[in-house]
Amino acid sequence: MMNESSETVPLFGGKIKLQPSLLAADFARLGDHAAQALEAGAHGLHADIMDGRFVPQITYGAEVVRSVIEQTGADVDAHLMIVEPERQIEAFTEAGVNGVTVHAEACPHLHRVLEMIRGAGCEAGVAINPASPFIEFLQYTLPLLDRILVMTVNPGWGGQKFIVSSLDKINKISRLLEAYGSEAVIQVDGGVTPRNAGKLVNAGATELVAGSAVFKGDVGKNVAEFREAIEKELSA
Ligand code: DX5
Ligand code: ZN
Repeated sequence: MMNESSETVPLFGGKIKLQPSLLAADFARLGDHAAQALEAGAHGLHADIMDGRFVPQITYGAEVVRSVIEQTGADVDAHLMIVEPERQIEAFTEAGVNGVTVHAEACPHLHRVLEMIRGAGCEAGVAINPASPFIEFLQYTLPLLDRILVMTVNPGWGGQKFIVSSLDKINKISRLLEAYGSEAVIQVDGGVTPRNAGKLVNAGATELVAGSAVFKGDVGKNVAEFREAIEKELSA
């Protein structure tokens, strides 16, 4: 398995996961580029699925994700930035993903969609946009949630600037999870770099998704910078 290195090296104290976003990888050599990040110690991969409707861009679908999983053996979580995500859940779970995350804003029947994901044996996640006040709703779906993805940019593109007010939202969700005794993890996505990684971990995030900051330039060096930043925060 390509991600063996992340099992043998307790990256980031074993507490924090770095999940490179394939969106910033070179699509012409996707499997190889993803493998570089895993060899450098990343824990898994994050697949951004865009449909040209929920967000303007179109990326790739379940068959591309299947190929990446077959080539790398990586744990992959699929972030569905699509309308009617319930129509794609089976395709992604059959492609071998570990988790599927849907947008709260795209799901009038979120409870049912989360049940579908769990029913397929996958981790169920919900993503919330920067402007969404959807925090209250979480308490009604918590028993079905493995992952809460706090968007730290507006979904749709890589390489955007981190929205600082997200830190407050992460803090609030972290306290809510604690109050309800939930084991769901907080994932953050968008503009995540070694510079803000420490603050994000401090606010309660345990899964860091990063595209540009991992795949642009030297992948090994980039992952090492994340490791240093997180270890510094954890030992502070
Ligand atoms: C944005 C995607 C992100 C994106 C992050 O809609 O969900 O996963 O790839 O890219 P960076 O890390 O470059 O902001
Ligand atoms: Zn994403």
